Amino acid sequence: MVVIIALLIILLVTVGGCTKPKPIDPLVQKGRTIYQAKCIVCHNADPKLAGALGPEVKGTSLELLKLRIKEGVYPQNYTPKRTTKLMAPMPELSDEDIKALHAYLNSP
Ligand code: HEC
Repeated sequence: MVVIIALLIILLVTVGGCTKPKPIDPLVQKGRTIYQAKCIVCHNADPKLAGALGPEVKGTSLELLKLRIKEGVYPQNYTPKRTTKLMAPMPELSDEDIKALHAYLNSP
């Protein structure tokens, strides 16, 4: 399974690299899909901007994403952008989902 996924990724990157100026990273794609499904109710569809309820989240670290999404807490010594506690933890998101979100939020 892993081999097939790896091959698919290589194929996508190679084919994408030939036909389009920028290859599409499947992890970034997946992250964008999750972000659009789960986050833009409150955060802006453009992660660089603040949303209806949530602050901008572009460039968020993996550690912050994991803690904030799974446990609803912040890394030690991290000053949250907001003092509110409106965002409920989403333990249903897997580590893979969060890695994908991280890739998307840190993509150019
Ligand atoms: C119910 C609305 C809501 C949803 C849905 C939501 N958020 Fe939030 N988020 C917020 C709010 C509001 C804050 C500010 C802190 C607080 O009030 O909890 C926040 C804070 C954050 C922070 C911390 C920002 C910082 O640096 O202080 C991150 C990261 C984050 N959200 C990511 C996400 C991601 C990724 C998703 C989707 C998986 C998501 N949020 C879904 C409302 C939401």
